[in-house]
Amino acid sequence: MGIEDDWRVITRDNRRDGAAAVAGIRGAGFRGPGISGGGVEARPMCMRSIPRMQLEQAIELFTRHFGRAPACAAAAPGRVNLIGEHVDYNDGFVLPMAIERQTLIVAAPRSDGHRLGGIISAGQPEPVSFSTEELTPPEQPTWVDYIRGVVAGFAEAGHEVPGFEAAIVSDVPVGGGLSSSAALEVAAATTLESLLGRPLDPVKKALLCQQAEHRFARVPCGIMDQFISVLGRAGHALLLDCRSLEPRHVAMTDEGVTVLIANTNCKHELTGGEYAERRAQCEAAARALGVASLRDIDVNTVIAAKPRLEPLVFRRAYHVVSEIERTPRAAAMLEAGDYEGFGRLMLDSHATLRDAFEVSTQELDLLVELAEQRMGEGGVYGARMTGAGFGGCTVTLVRSDKAHSVERYLYTHYLEQTGIEPTIFATRPADGARLVDLGGSS
Ligand code: GLA
Repeated sequence: MGIEDDWRVITRDNRRDGAAAVAGIRGAGFRGPGISGGGVEARPMCMRSIPRMQLEQAIELFTRHFGRAPACAAAAPGRVNLIGEHVDYNDGFVLPMAIERQTLIVAAPRSDGHRLGGIISAGQPEPVSFSTEELTPPEQPTWVDYIRGVVAGFAEAGHEVPGFEAAIVSDVPVGGGLSSSAALEVAAATTLESLLGRPLDPVKKALLCQQAEHRFARVPCGIMDQFISVLGRAGHALLLDCRSLEPRHVAMTDEGVTVLIANTNCKHELTGGEYAERRAQCEAAARALGVASLRDIDVNTVIAAKPRLEPLVFRRAYHVVSEIERTPRAAAMLEAGDYEGFGRLMLDSHATLRDAFEVSTQELDLLVELAEQRMGEGGVYGARMTGAGFGGCTVTLVRSDKAHSVERYLYTHYLEQTGIEPTIFATRPADGARLVDLGGSS
């Protein structure tokens, strides 16, 4: 049982009336993300603010459990990675974007002076309470350790974290490879910034959240997820050099193109050990190739070294090094509107993740193959698995006027061939973490 399994926040993934449920406060009237069975619409460029229902649910949860009104609210998005997979911990380039799904926390300082954090999460029967003073990493992490880890980071940075109470509601699917953990960490950090009245430097904030995941959830993740959840920008993907941490926002404002996320609904679990194993294999590959990190060599050097490398080490290095080369090229193509070129690189990325890095699954491969069948006239530019793998989601780039028919195609054939209902939705690139006005605007 992984950590994410017992964080059962409310998701609306399988609601057929999802479009109505997520109508934004400011964007009232525009259509929300398509939901499986409900169809996918081409998405207009106005940004979705915090859905009214989500905010109301969080306020109601807080009020019911703590008997008073919350004083502040903060939200942080999940992400989809367009390309650049398993390269962030190899000092490479990634190209994620924040999605229109987020974790929302409403909170207030405690009135009794106790330095305790009291948290209630939608879907959890009871609130959890922990000391904000004594924070040691757990033996057996649970969902609340993501938050304890963030509080510990603030304390270590010299902040005196007061006692507080908080209610959490999220529509980032848990175990879907869309960074529900980073969304939780970053939402928690943003809440603490608000409670303390002290904003952190954004990059330091992302690093603090990454440390929380390393030390309190025991997942040796890279920086991509926390970084995009903090620094995402509406209408933009983000090309991040994970060595220098230099970000570059890449405009994605063409309404003719839609990003479709398809969830295999086979959960991935980073705590299962495969992620840490891949990371260790990459470090071994760099050592075998005599470099500090796989960022420091090119594909030809890896190919030339093949005879003296263990086959597995060669495969791991081959994916990482070719993916690091692909990603800035892909970003340039996206910027230039060369979606065919971008789509081809997505397929190349999927192929090396599947065959060389070995983190795909039959279900992910099936969704990518189905998308490939709709290339050309069908409107698909390309598709690939996204996130760590071992389950989770694919990302497909598609012409907006064909998004609905592609969604139907993926849904019907995936269900027919696996017996599993996929969840498919379209998203525009969203903003990163932000404070939310309890009256409704963010
Ligand atoms: C997870 C990690 C990230 C990154 C991806 C794979 O999402 O949290 O740091 O390594 O897997 O690209």
